[in-house]
Amino acid sequence: MPGKYAFVTGTDHGVGLALAEELLKRGYFVVAARVNPAENAIDRLQVENAGRMAVVECNVGTDESVSAMASAVKKLVPQIDLLINNAGILGDMKKVLGEDLDFDEMLRVINVNSLGPLRVTNALYPLLLAGKEKTVINISSEAGSIADCERVGWFGYCMSKAANNMQSALVHNNLVKQGGRVIAMHPGHVATYMRGHLDTTAKLTPEEAAKGILSVVLDGELPITERPVYLDYSGKKLPW
Ligand SMILES: NC(=O)c1ccc[n+]([C@@H]2O[C@H](COP(=O)([O-])OP(=O)(O)OC[C@H]3O[C@@H](n4cnc5c(N)ncnc54)[C@H](OP(=O)(O)O)[C@@H]3O)[C@@H](O)[C@H]2O)c1
Repeated sequence: MPGKYAFVTGTDHGVGLALAEELLKRGYFVVAARVNPAENAIDRLQVENAGRMAVVECNVGTDESVSAMASAVKKLVPQIDLLINNAGILGDMKKVLGEDLDFDEMLRVINVNSLGPLRVTNALYPLLLAGKEKTVINISSEAGSIADCERVGWFGYCMSKAANNMQSALVHNNLVKQGGRVIAMHPGHVATYMRGHLDTTAKLTPEEAAKGILSVVLDGELPITERPVYLDYSGKKLPW
């Protein structure tokens, strides 16, 4: 077994799949969690990396699924050194104040994007404590910055990522006492299918985003600080 273990959510495709691939290149044993068993790109990666990765299923939006995933992961690996909460959904981007806002959809987005990472980190906490680095990367977004907010819509997504950031701060305050840390990370504007179609206006490929994120966290001199850091894939600090 290798010496370093990573766990990533939302590895069906996009940034999560690219993170799993990049972590394998860096020598990690990777546990990849996907939500949809029909998405098989991760199976191909597993075949190419037999003995160096495992695939589990996890819907970060339900307690039952996260609990079942955690039980399975505890049987697969002795520790988690790097936990990446990547899974996320977008919701409506168009409606503004005064329109027919969909609050049920907002609740679904907040459940997945804000509570999902906390469910996962909490369920895997014993494995994280057993790890050497005890590092959590929460894939947030620039859209979660309250200080920089210029949008008039995207209510569910922006609010969910702002709450994701607060969750990062609270989890960091727990972990830092144990020698660990949380990094809130904006992956950049990435060409994925998050909008329901390939976002051709994006600047980065998922591979470029994943390489950048891991380089910032694993290659740089990123000291463990009392408060968590909120960075983008190039290492630039974002305002909370
Ligand atoms: N793309 C960007 O420009 C951008 C910018 C800022 C932040 N982000 C963040 O980056 C992360 C990755 O997004 P992406 O761009 O790679 O989009 P993506 O390709 O849609 O990836 C999101 C992943 O999360 C999975 N997922 C959705 N709901 C889930 C659930 N309930 N439980 C577990 N997994 C779930 C998706 O699986 P299925 O599709 O199979 O359901 C997919 O694998 C997200 O957190 C997103 O908010 C992206």
